Amino acid sequence: TTIYVLNGPNLNLLGQREPEIYGSDTLADIEAACTTWARALGLSIEFRQSNSEGQLVDWIQEANSKGAGLIINPAAYTHTSIALLDALKAAQIPVIELHLSNIHAREAFRQHSVTAAAANGVIMGFGASGYRLAIEALKSLIESQAS
Ligand code: DQA
Repeated sequence: TTIYVLNGPNLNLLGQREPEIYGSDTLADIEAACTTWARALGLSIEFRQSNSEGQLVDWIQEANSKGAGLIINPAAYTHTSIALLDALKAAQIPVIELHLSNIHAREAFRQHSVTAAAANGVIMGFGASGYRLAIEALKSLIESQAS
């Protein structure tokens, strides 16, 4: 099974962007770790980042058309994007929403997720290791769907 790991705006700057909040790992570090974690569970991975909302919509549709599992950190679009919500709702695949930080412990405007309503579950506040937790959770969801 393939899993898509989609990363939204400004996550290309991880490592240098507010490291006290988001940690010192770069997105390339996280991609390398995700590849290792996924392989250990027998999953292959499509790891992508875009600053563009429409590009993320296209990739959600692509993941759905391939019957893949999906992990998405929609970044700032989490709090605004009905387009991403609709794309996730249309997708018939397991979806985990992920945030590096605990959005409930941050500014009021970050405390609501528009997109989480379309996710099977949300993992937040564990930094880069949240990606490992999300891959494990997605693996369980895929297995329970198959049975
Ligand atoms: C984020 C939280 C969002 O509020 C923020 O806009 C991000 C990253 C996180 O991973 O903690 O860009 O999604």
